Amino acid sequence: MIKTAITEMFGIEYPIICGAMMWLCKPEFCAAISNAGGMGNVTAANYETEEAFRSAIQQTRKLTDKPFMVGVTILPSVRITAEHYKMYLRVCAEEQVAGVEVSGAPVDKACGMEFIEMLKKAGVRLFHKVGSVRHAVHAEKAGYDGIYAAGIEEGGHPLNDDVTSMVLTPRIVEEVKLPVVTVGGMVNGKTMAAAMMLGAQGVMMATRFMATKECMIHNNIKEELKKRQEYETALICKSIHLQARALRNRNVDAVLEVEARGGGFEEILPLITGDRISKAWETGDVDLAPMMVGQSVGLVHDIPTVKELLARTVREAVDQVRAVSAKINA
Ligand SMILES: Cc1cc2nc3c(=O)[nH]c(=O)nc-3n(C[C@H](O)[C@H](O)[C@H](O)COP(=O)(O)O)c2cc1C
Repeated sequence: MIKTAITEMFGIEYPIICGAMMWLCKPEFCAAISNAGGMGNVTAANYETEEAFRSAIQQTRKLTDKPFMVGVTILPSVRITAEHYKMYLRVCAEEQVAGVEVSGAPVDKACGMEFIEMLKKAGVRLFHKVGSVRHAVHAEKAGYDGIYAAGIEEGGHPLNDDVTSMVLTPRIVEEVKLPVVTVGGMVNGKTMAAAMMLGAQGVMMATRFMATKECMIHNNIKEELKKRQEYETALICKSIHLQARALRNRNVDAVLEVEARGGGFEEILPLITGDRISKAWETGDVDLAPMMVGQSVGLVHDIPTVKELLARTVREAVDQVRAVSAKINA
């Protein structure tokens, strides 16, 4: 057992949190993770209407009586608007979900302080996923309850400060009093033990959760993740100010080629559409779309159930800490 500020805050067994994953974090997968003792995620941008979003939360509730988070991504989007963010946060408050993971712009700036107050009143814990100390300090001042410290290793959209989790975690721990969770490169017991040594109260994983039996992506993709190495991701879309880490494939090479010759947003957009990405997950075509994957992919070697993954990660973390302290005592 590992007891931390995160397990205490939410009453969960393991301080292991699933990060928001567009297209993948839906009720069944979320409930599987929460039922196994971790913290599942329902990613709000999967739902464009209030009805569909609320029904996803209610469906998750039917599948688990354990806490879960809702991921609200506040980054430039051609599909999701400021009105969506406000709707997501209001519904989270009304439905009294356990917590909200926000990435991108902070809630106070994107929606207004009244949304933070609304969530607080409803007992919803608010976490911001940040890539810098300054953004963590801002979130603390705005009234957030915790920080996800996301290093440049992470899949998805790492901040273009490009600081690694190894340095970002202890720097944020130095500067804020809120509980800090390490994001990026978190994949097994050794990385979890390392994060906790750096002062983290838990870890967030996403790439690792993709290669589990319950994740609803095509098996080809899971097998591809097992084969790939830590150096096989690339940062794309820096030129359009939306840096993203994705698995190296033919699609990502095409995006990099457009960016290298100065091609703009209009040329890049057709290569990175949501339709392409969801089709890739469904059909198992590993070259069709940018697949958001972290450097942690190099440490993905199997496809366990979520339950096996969580229990094994915690067991390995505890063993690792004991093995190191035995060396110190020797
Ligand atoms: C397939 C996939 C989709 C993601 N989609 C989102 C998203 O919609 N919003 C978000 O804030 N982060 C997203 N992320 C980032 C994760 O929530 C998390 O921060 C990151 O992946 C952690 O690094 P790791 O993958 O190495 O564990 C995504 C990551 C992956 C792997």
